[in-house]
This record gives sequence, structure tokens and C-alpha cells, in this order.
Amino acid sequence: MATERGSMAKEKAIYEATYLEVTKKLAKGKKTTKKLPDDPTQSWRTPPDLFKKLDEIFGFTVDAFANEKNHLLPKWWEDCESEDWSNEIAFCNPPFGYVDKFLFRASRAQMSLWLCMANRLVSPGVNKYPPALLIIPARRLKFIPPDGIQAKSPTSGTVLLVYGKVSREQIARLETIGSIWTSWK
Ligand SMILES: C[S@@+](CC[C@H](N)C(=O)[O-])C[C@H]1O[C@@H](n2cnc3c(N)ncnc32)[C@H](O)[C@@H]1O
Repeated sequence: MATERGSMAKEKAIYEATYLEVTKKLAKGKKTTKKLPDDPTQSWRTPPDLFKKLDEIFGFTVDAFANEKNHLLPKWWEDCESEDWSNEIAFCNPPFGYVDKFLFRASRAQMSLWLCMANRLVSPGVNKYPPALLIIPARRLKFIPPDGIQAKSPTSGTVLLVYGKVSREQIARLETIGSIWTSWK
């Protein structure tokens, strides 16, 4: 158990160092194709019934945060920074500790839906890029651990952020997932 925790901490440290390097380069306007290393603490999978429901509503064209083992769509990215988002209807379940850092990509997609831990709503990224719609589920979503087996109760609630144009019909269907708040004036 102690060794498992030690290796988890080591993977997390590598992840954070790489993340810092990538974001520094992006901030300086440099293009980087460096992918974040896989971090099991950041790779919890979307509950299948939720994904199915959302995919029926939006018809996603790409799973923007994935790897070869956990992608939910035939088209998926492991380095979304270097991809063209402009024609995509993107499903985004990013490494959840870093969601707000990726949000500047949201405005570049035709439409995108993001899963975001509730406490990450208070962050520079969400503040700078407020979503068109915020969906607040009545209960905490139960994500699937990376190994796909062990089930645990979530420690934080998750909200859904929608960027781009959404039809009235889509909004009505989203109401079955949670209450809807909008930033539209
Ligand atoms: C929370 S998991 C989501 C897995 C799956 N798409 C789902 O929703 O069930 C996030 C995934 O993003 C991948 N990832 C890490 N950095 C990324 C990046 N810069 N661009 C795209 N994907 C990335 C990781 O490999 C990780 O598996």
C-alpha cells in the first residue's frame, strides 16, 4: 500500500512538472506538442450512462481528452493542444485537477461540453471563459476509476459546462441531467 502511494506521488510529481513546462511554453506563445504523462489520479472515466445521454443530445465528433485505453469515441486526442478544434463538437473530461487551464480551447470549438469538479468553478480559467450553460446535477456523479473495476464514492460534486450554440431542444433534454444556469444576458 505504502509503495503504491509512493509511486502514485512520483507519477503525480512528473505530471505536475510536465504540466508546468507545457503551460509556460503556451503562455509565451510557443507551440508545444508535449502530451501530459498519464496520471491515474487524473484519469477517472466518465459514467457510461451519462456519456450516452450527452452523446445523444450533442452528437460529439471527438473525445478531446483520452488515451488508447479509455477513449469513448472513434476520434480522440491525447494532445489536444496541438489539434484544430474549430469544426468539432467536443466531449471534454480533462485531467480534472487542471480543467480550468484547458478552457481557453473551449471558445475555439464549434461546441464543447466539459466535466468540471465543482470546486474548480472558482478558478481563473472559468472566470475568464464563462460557459454559455452551467448544469448542476442533483447528485454527485460517480466516475469510474482508471482500472475500471473499483467503485468509490466521489469526494466532490461535478458540474457540466457548455460552450457554443445550443438549441432549445438540447436545453430541454439537458434539464433531465440537472438544473441549468446560463450566462446569457
Ligand atoms: C479524466 S480522463 C478521461 C478519459 C475518457 N475520455 C473518459 O471521459 O472516460 C483524461 C484523459 O486525458 C488524457 N490527457 C492528458 N493530457 C492530455 C492532453 N493535453 N490532451 C488530451 N488528452 C490528455 C489522459 O491520458 C487521460 O486519460
